[in-house]
Amino acid sequence: MSYVSTHQRKVRGERIHNDAKERMQDQIQDSSKITRGEDEETKITREEDEETKITREEDEETKITREEVEAKYLIPSVENFVETKQVKEVEDRIDLYLNLNYPVHIIGPTGCGKTTLAMHVAQGLGRPVVWINGDESVTTTDLVGGYSQIEQESIRDRYIHNVFKSKDILKADWIDNPLTLACKYGYTLVYNEFSRTQPVANNILLSVFEEGILELPTKFGEERYIDVHPDFRAILTSNSIEYAGIHKPQDALLDRMIGIYMDFYDFETEVEIVEAHTGISTTEARRIVQVVRKVREELDLAEKPGTRACIMIGHGLRLLDGYSEKDFEQLFMDIMTSKTKGPSDLSEKVALIRKILSET
Ligand SMILES: Nc1ncnc2c1ncn2[C@@H]1O[C@H](COP(=O)(O)OP(=O)(O)OP(=O)(O)O)[C@@H](O)[C@H]1O
Ligand SMILES: [Mg+2]
Repeated sequence: MSYVSTHQRKVRGERIHNDAKERMQDQIQDSSKITRGEDEETKITREEDEETKITREEDEETKITREEVEAKYLIPSVENFVETKQVKEVEDRIDLYLNLNYPVHIIGPTGCGKTTLAMHVAQGLGRPVVWINGDESVTTTDLVGGYSQIEQESIRDRYIHNVFKSKDILKADWIDNPLTLACKYGYTLVYNEFSRTQPVANNILLSVFEEGILELPTKFGEERYIDVHPDFRAILTSNSIEYAGIHKPQDALLDRMIGIYMDFYDFETEVEIVEAHTGISTTEARRIVQVVRKVREELDLAEKPGTRACIMIGHGLRLLDGYSEKDFEQLFMDIMTSKTKGPSDLSEKVALIRKILSET
């Protein structure tokens, strides 16, 4: 047993006291350090929060709004639309089926006026019109939309000392594409050249047309299914000429649509269209259309020049502003031989056009 004198105890006690005092002072210093440290942290966190806020504000700015998507897909206005008796008849047929709430599929040769008619009828329905052009690269996402924007949010826990918690939340932002917009809000969808799209991408249309339900493949739960709005209408176009690269649409889809077969318009309608687009005289427009129609009779379906060729020749004539028969012939040659397969085909076509021009 060790003996400790009072003096020693006193000394030790003082020491003990001093130790405690020092420890307390240390603690106070530490705690002020901690507080300062926390303040720094809080400051950083606040600064980071500000940053996050700014980022979020910027995100809001860059966020694609429904109006912007709509504007992107809104159809161009149809200018100089010519509505002769024949055009009106086809229009009325299309209108009838659209009123019955059937999707309409306009089929016809290249350049006969399918797209123009589809857009005109769509606009006549009085609802916003969105459109999409079919092609090989179009996917279901292009039709319905998807998670195209990722929003990042950072949360930092500032309450627990020494535990610095940081959480990054990635919020995916869903963007509606034309089909979803049209189904949700009752717009008219023009799906131009839909048969150029791979059939699998168009499968999404089956339940839209049949059950009135749009199924969003990448969504889950209730959000996955959208009841198609009663005002939703669809007009599709495709080319009747089958050539390499065009997919045959699945029968199930064709079964669910009304097919309206178009051919080139009658002579008078084509003349009016050429006049409306180019402003050339009726005599000039008539001659152009006569020659083009005769060439059309002689060529295979895939090579037949359409109304577009008549308009192009008319534009050329207008620009020439005073022309010789040779200029006239050259315009036809340049514009109507664009689909030639090779040199011998070209010389055959040149001879044919020359012959027809001399007779007309
Ligand atoms: N009713 C019309 N009124 C005025 N212009 C028309 C009319 N129909 C067609 N056109 C014009 O004729 C040209 C061909 O029409 P459009 O592009 O609609 O044909 P298309 O059948 O869709 O052709 P493609 O098969 O090449 O897509 C266009 O320049 C278009 O402006
Ligand atoms: Mg077209």
